Order: sequence, then structure tokens, then C-alpha cells
Amino acid sequence: MRVGILTGGGDAAGLNAAIRAVGRSALRHGDEVVGVVNGWAGLLGGAEVVILDEQSFSGMLREGGTALGSSRTNPLAVEGGIARVQSSLAELEIDALVAIGGDDTLSVAAALAEAGTRVVGLPKTVDFDLAVTEYCIGFDSAVAIVCEALDRLHTTAASHHRVMVCEVMGRDTGWLAVMGGLAGGADLVLIPEFPLSLDEVIARLDARQASGKSYSIVVIAEGAAVEGLDISPSDSATDAFGHMALSSKAVGDRLAQAIKARTGHDTRATVLGHVQRGGSPVASDRIWPTRLGVAAFDALAEGKGGSCAVVADGTVQLVPLGDVVAEQKRVPRELYAIVDRVN
Ligand code: F6P
Repeated sequence: MRVGILTGGGDAAGLNAAIRAVGRSALRHGDEVVGVVNGWAGLLGGAEVVILDEQSFSGMLREGGTALGSSRTNPLAVEGGIARVQSSLAELEIDALVAIGGDDTLSVAAALAEAGTRVVGLPKTVDFDLAVTEYCIGFDSAVAIVCEALDRLHTTAASHHRVMVCEVMGRDTGWLAVMGGLAGGADLVLIPEFPLSLDEVIARLDARQASGKSYSIVVIAEGAAVEGLDISPSDSATDAFGHMALSSKAVGDRLAQAIKARTGHDTRATVLGHVQRGGSPVASDRIWPTRLGVAAFDALAEGKGGSCAVVADGTVQLVPLGDVVAEQKRVPRELYAIVDRVN
């Protein structure tokens, strides 16, 4: 069998661990492995792949990013896109595919499976918003980066008696803001699921000040809306999956300016941005991608396409690809409420 591996969407720490696990499992099973270059773009038009051998995987485990490159190319937005991907796979003699990505990449994989391709998915997203799975490649590493950033913001905030606003990733959900905020002791966390108004934010900060706290750490997810705060984007262009670059809303900067204007508190904004996706994976973003990658290969070797290897009930399980992208996993109220109970 010839196995293809593809990474799509935004990169995240731990992708290479998954690529290595799929690749090495295949090679040791006596199969051939090719890497599809730049996500679905590598299977549309001029197909682009690299042959992967034992040597290709050396040193890969601890490397950030994706050795295969990625893109936000969407075959579903291209006329006859799925058929074109299938003919590229046939031309390249790829019998089975592992697609690693978030809801966008896995939706394409689900459509491909529906059209008869043997494909297995692996869940990756720092947004952590995929249904069914308790684990997504890259999320733990991103949480660790937010946690470290908040530790650092705490010391400088205390020195200067400032309000520090830290903008983190999270397009539609606030998982990274909440988990990073819990780990880093944020005083206030703003997420898309439970919008607060600017008045509420100001009231919370004033209450902290009145209780003798001389500084505050506010975490805001890039996709959060704050009633009373203008966050109209400076650029509303969208990618092939219909997503706008949320950085153009500058929600962190705008919130910091509004807090300063309304309260007079010395306020600064920090936008963590792509730092959250870069660099080496933490241990769990090596262990789970390795376990999931092996399971994905085993599924393909047994002829089981149309599934996604996920973590459920603490173990690796195969679930239908469609289930993982059927709905977005959102932060539950009870979890969000913990931030306020302990800050
Ligand atoms: O979709 C995952 C994500 O990390 C979002 O949190 C963020 O808005 C987006 O990717 C950034 O994407 P890009 O790499 O295209 O700037």
C-alpha cells in the first residue's frame, strides 16, 4: 500500500509527531509513504508530493510546524475539487490518505471518504473546538505558551500597577483563553461563548481596584465580542473556507484603549498571535499525536476509511469523520464559571 500524509489549515505544535508516527508505522509494515506538500493544494492541479523514508523522520518528533507545509486551500470551494483530488491520488498511486487538521481540513476529508477515498483523519487545532475528541494536536502546547505569557505579564503588571490585556487565539470558541487563563491565573476572561459588555468589564476591574488589587490580567479570545466596543474589522477579506483574519478586529488593542479611556488605569495590550502555534510541542503533543498516528495507520491497513482517530474516555478511538465536524465544541458555562470562582 502507498500511504499519503497531508496537513491542512493553521499549523500547530505536534503535527510532526503525528506525521512521524503514521510514516514509521507504514514503513515498518512494509508500505510506502509520501507526504503531500501544502495541504489540499498539493492534490489540486499540479500534484506535489515528497517520498518519505526512514531518514525523513529523524529528529522530527521535537520540531514545531509541519514538515509537509500547509495551506488553507479548500477543494470543496473549487468546481469538481473532490474529483480532482481523487484523480491526483490515483495518478500518484496513493491508496490511502491520512489528513491531519481542524474542522476545515476534516470536512474535506469527510467529503472525500463519502466519495469513496480511503482516508482517516487526525484532529488538530489550537482552538480545540472539534466535537467528540478530548484532545486536539497543538492545543496543550498553545495553552503552555499562554500560561507562560500570563506569568510574565503578572510580574510586569504588578511592578507598574497596570491592567494587562492579553489577546489569544480562538476564532469561535474560548478554549485557549479559558484554559490558558486558568493555568496563568487570569482575573477576567472574555470569550465568544459568553459575551460581556464593556460596562461589565469596567465594573469588574473597578471592583478589583476597590478591593486593593493594584493590577489586573484580562485575557480575551480574538473572536470575542464586547458589547459597547467597536471591533469592526479593518479588512473583511476571507479565505477559501470563509474565515476572516481576526487580527484585523484588533480586539485586544481596542479593549485596552477603551479600558484606559474609561478608567484612567494604565493599560497595555499584548497580542500573542502565531507565537501560540510555533515552536516545539510539549510532551502531551508528542505522545498523543504518536498514539493517534499509529491508530490512523492501523485503521487504513485494515481497510477502514472514513474515520478519525480521536481521544475519548482517555483512550484512542476511531469515530466517523463526519461526527468530528458535525458541530463545534464550545466552552460549557460550568468551566467558564471556574475562572471567576478562583481569581
Ligand atoms: O483556526 C485556527 C487559528 O489558529 C485561529 O485561532 C486563528 O484565527 C487562525 O488560525 C489564524 O490563521 P492564520 O494562520 O491564517 O493567520
